[in-house]
Amino acid sequence: MKSGPSTTLSATLLLTVALAATAAPAESPGADPAHGRELSGECAACHDGDGRTRFSIYPRIAGQTYDYLLLSMKEFRSKERHQAYAATLMWPSVVKLSDQDLRDLAAYYSSLPW
Ligand code: HEC
Repeated sequence: MKSGPSTTLSATLLLTVALAATAAPAESPGADPAHGRELSGECAACHDGDGRTRFSIYPRIAGQTYDYLLLSMKEFRSKERHQAYAATLMWPSVVKLSDQDLRDLAAYYSSLPW
């Protein structure tokens, strides 16, 4: 049996698939956490770069569940979520983001440690 570049390539592909599966939680099909990370620079001013907010008036979003993050962002975008005075701070942050952007951000933050 020959062992060479093709064996190495197969192993690399398998590893890549395994890593991709780890990065994207099963409940977020089609979401791209790497893109979410790129978008997250906008969020860092309030939620910190790692989402583990140190300012007590802003919620920690790192490690929150994917579905809850996505729902919250959609509700801020549509202004359905407005009950707390601070919600107005979130509206401009998500108003221009697409559904795919929100899925990617949810996948990114839900993949971080709480
Ligand atoms: C100007 C400050 C600010 C920026 C920038 C900001 N947020 Fe927020 N965010 C807040 C505040 C304040 C709240 C709490 C709002 C409330 O519940 O009324 C919040 C709440 C949230 C929540 C809900 C958390 C929960 O536990 O209910 C999510 C999710 C969230 N932000 C995600 C993001 C993302 C993603 C971005 C970047 C695209 C972002 N935020 C940018 C201030 C900000």
